[in-house]
Amino acid sequence: MVNQRFVDPDKLKHPRSASTPYWTTDLPINGRPAVSIANGGAPKVPNWHRFPGGFWFKFRPRSQIRCLLSRSLARLAPRALPYSKLFSPTENTPPRAVTRKVDSDASKALAAKGVEVVAADLFDKESLKKAVRGSEAVFGVTNFWDPSVFPADETGKGEITQGKNLVDAAKEVGVKFFIWSSLPNVAKESNGLYKHVYHYDNKAAIDEYLKASGVPYAVLQTFWFGENLWKLGSLTKTDTGYIIPVPKYGPDDIQSATWVGKDLGPSAVALLKNYTDGSKGVVGKVYPVVSLRFTYTELAAAIAIAIKKEVKFVPVETAGNAEIDEMFLFQAKVPVKTPSPNPDLVALGVKFASLSDFVQKEIVPRFA
Ligand SMILES: NC(=O)c1ccc[n+]([C@@H]2O[C@H](COP(=O)([O-])OP(=O)(O)OC[C@H]3O[C@@H](n4cnc5c(N)ncnc54)[C@H](OP(=O)(O)O)[C@@H]3O)[C@@H](O)[C@H]2O)c1
Repeated sequence: MVNQRFVDPDKLKHPRSASTPYWTTDLPINGRPAVSIANGGAPKVPNWHRFPGGFWFKFRPRSQIRCLLSRSLARLAPRALPYSKLFSPTENTPPRAVTRKVDSDASKALAAKGVEVVAADLFDKESLKKAVRGSEAVFGVTNFWDPSVFPADETGKGEITQGKNLVDAAKEVGVKFFIWSSLPNVAKESNGLYKHVYHYDNKAAIDEYLKASGVPYAVLQTFWFGENLWKLGSLTKTDTGYIIPVPKYGPDDIQSATWVGKDLGPSAVALLKNYTDGSKGVVGKVYPVVSLRFTYTELAAAIAIAIKKEVKFVPVETAGNAEIDEMFLFQAKVPVKTPSPNPDLVALGVKFASLSDFVQKEIVPRFA
């Protein structure tokens, strides 16, 4: 077992630096804005478009579908969405990205792709109302690890304020569908065993708030991001190869994971395409986006074979922080009931891939 110390996120200026312990890697990588993509629901004209990822959709004329998205979905957008092809100026409005930093390089890059980038702050409901006014749908996400949320408050209560502001704003301007990027309620699902996983429980509190709001909604639950391996340093270089250090995990414990860049966008699009069809039962439903499932031993072995280097899973005794320790304990010890891939999302047309695909496409180019 390896002991490593938790690093206060507030003290990290360079979250991706080699000195950053991997469990802080849930931190945002600053500099890119929230972004949105648009798509049509209930299409009425033969105006099909294809995402390079392979799925087809078409727009409803004059529809205004705008979403607040996290960079998680933005990861999909810049490389996968040829906006000029997707959006016809006469029939559709462009997607709208929401950020606090419209002047950032990332915002400018998105604007250059045809995304409408606007400023709003999740702590400022009036700014959010302006941002989502006229939109059919909103994709909402909060970032617990933003310094204004945590460690501004040690339980990150601001995340709940932000989520409520976004729901209230959407409701007040008549948004028709709200997709909420959420996580399970750990305290509840662990029967009170793990009470300190605030970045989960805060998001789950918004599930309830949304339900009570009356705004038609669906929830996308994410899991351990596959992207953590390179964005957040979970695949750590050593003198002889790589290690994957994980607190509280044993060699046989299962991790469910979301391949965010590949699967979260299409999952959101699938909900947007189908929410108006009552027979699909999208509204009010929770969709865990389970892309992959593995033990870290299996993940390390799959990566080792693909990159032809030594890769070892390293169990870590503690992150030195109750929130992170209990999060990994919850992930390791409380089984995810949803199969991988989630058949409900498959039924809506989302195409998932294998661990081998993930490793070949994402890991080999970066680490081989
Ligand atoms: N890593 C994992 O394994 C994992 C797994 C499941 C869930 N999560 C959750 O994912 C969340 C982070 O998502 P992510 O990785 O997509 O984050 P991200 O890439 O940092 O995106 C968050 C976006 O929100 C925007 N934002 C933050 N605070 C804002 C505010 N007050 N007003 C307006 N916009 C704001 C930021 O834009 P600007 O800075 O430009 O304003 C940023 O673009 C966390 O809450 C974490 O708990 C992570």
